[in-house]
This record gives sequence, C-alpha cells and structure tokens, in this order.
Amino acid sequence: MSLRLVANWKLNGSKEFNHHWAIEFFSNFHGNNFSSLGIAPASLYIDHLKGVIADHDINIGSQNIDLEETGARTGEISASMIKDLGCVFSIIGHSERRILFQETNQMICKKLIQAENNSIIPILCIGESAEENQNNATFEVLQQQIIGALENAGELSSLIIAYEPVWAIGSGKTPNPEDVNSVHEMVKDVVQSRFPKIGLQSVLYGGSVNFKNALSLFEQKNIDGALIGGASLDGKEFASIANVFNESRI
Ligand code: 13P
Repeated sequence: MSLRLVANWKLNGSKEFNHHWAIEFFSNFHGNNFSSLGIAPASLYIDHLKGVIADHDINIGSQNIDLEETGARTGEISASMIKDLGCVFSIIGHSERRILFQETNQMICKKLIQAENNSIIPILCIGESAEENQNNATFEVLQQQIIGALENAGELSSLIIAYEPVWAIGSGKTPNPEDVNSVHEMVKDVVQSRFPKIGLQSVLYGGSVNFKNALSLFEQKNIDGALIGGASLDGKEFASIANVFNESRI
C-alpha cells in the first residue's frame, strides 16, 4: 500500500521526543502493517528516529528538500542526502514554505524533479487561502498551483498530492468532508487528464485533522488519507487516527 497517513512534525522534536512518541504510538496502534504510515521529522532527527523505530517499517521522509543537488547553498539539504539517510518521501511546497520562505511554483517544480531523480516520492502540497475560499476561487487557485508545479516537471513515476487549505492548518477549522471530496475528485481529474505521464498515487487531506474528525473524512471516496500536523505530535492520537483509518478501509 502507498503512503496514506503522514505525520508532519514541522519545527518540533528532540531525541527524547522521538523515544516518547514511539512508546505512545506502538502501545496504542492496533495494526501490524506500517507501510501506509509516514513521519516527516525535522531533517536533523531523521537518522535518530529511524533508529528508534528500527524494527517497524514506518516510512520516514523530510519536510523539504533543496531544488539543487549540490553547490554553495548554505543550510540546504538535498534529495540525495535524505535518500542516503533512508527517506522514501519528501513533503514539497507546503504552504508554510510558500508563505514564510517565498517558494514559487517554479522552485517547487525543480524540487519535484530532484525528488524524482533520487527516487523520493514527493508529497506536493496545494491549498487556497481563506480569502480565496471566501471568493469561491478554490478550484481555480488549486488548478493554477497544480499546473504551475507540474507543467515543467516532465515524467514523475510517483506523486502524492496533499490538499491543505491554508485557513484549515492549525486553526481547528476543517472544510466539510463532501467539499474536500469534490476538491480531490477535481485534483485527480486535472492530473490524470493533463499529465498522463505522472503517476498520481493518492490525494491526501491536511488541515486540523484529529481523532474526532478523522472518520468523517476517511469515509469520503476520494480522500485517500491525511497529512497531519498538530495531532501527529501525540503518538497516541496519531495511533488512534491510524486505527480509525484502518477500520474505515475494512
Ligand atoms: P495541522 O494538522 O496542525 O492543521 O497541520 C496540517 C499541516 O500543515 C500538515 O502538513
């Protein structure tokens, strides 16, 4: 199974956190298949976290990669470096990177190519702002983001898209699940019709997902899983969401 539930730990964590999280997660997760689960810790902790979860093949990824392979780019981390550490995926173009670090579609496209060249599965994030949502511009904005990121990316053997409305991230607000379902259907249509050479694996939803609202989202046909921020920091809650996910797929 491909990645379906991905924890984005953002700028949080420590060695102690990794140990504590693993104890909480493994004592509350009912399943025995970890292949659909992913964690994106701060890059500095990738190696440590891999050691902590050693016997369980939860996928580890990064929250970002650089758009170049090597060079005079102080502070950056390349796709080949995260590959070297055993990562299988990277989040790319998260709205926090677009807004706080001025990432453009062009830069995001280069990062997608870096991921492809290093056999890293990219999780491309797209999402509209509150204002765009209020102006009923959601579909248009998302299509622009998809086309802007993918039109020069060439063939991508695998791609995951995460729909994360900016206004839903960390706010406790979520769109209604039926609306998310229609967005995901549109995303799949656009990618499959315009970019037939791109292997779209799944479309995840992200933005204030928690144990309480998870089932209503997972019940929707086109919501293939979730990218989870705040709630994923609690190993027990992430396990509970994963249990709900598994039960919803029986
Ligand atoms: P929250 O789950 O904290 O809203 O964050 C979502 C997110 O940004 C995941 O990438």
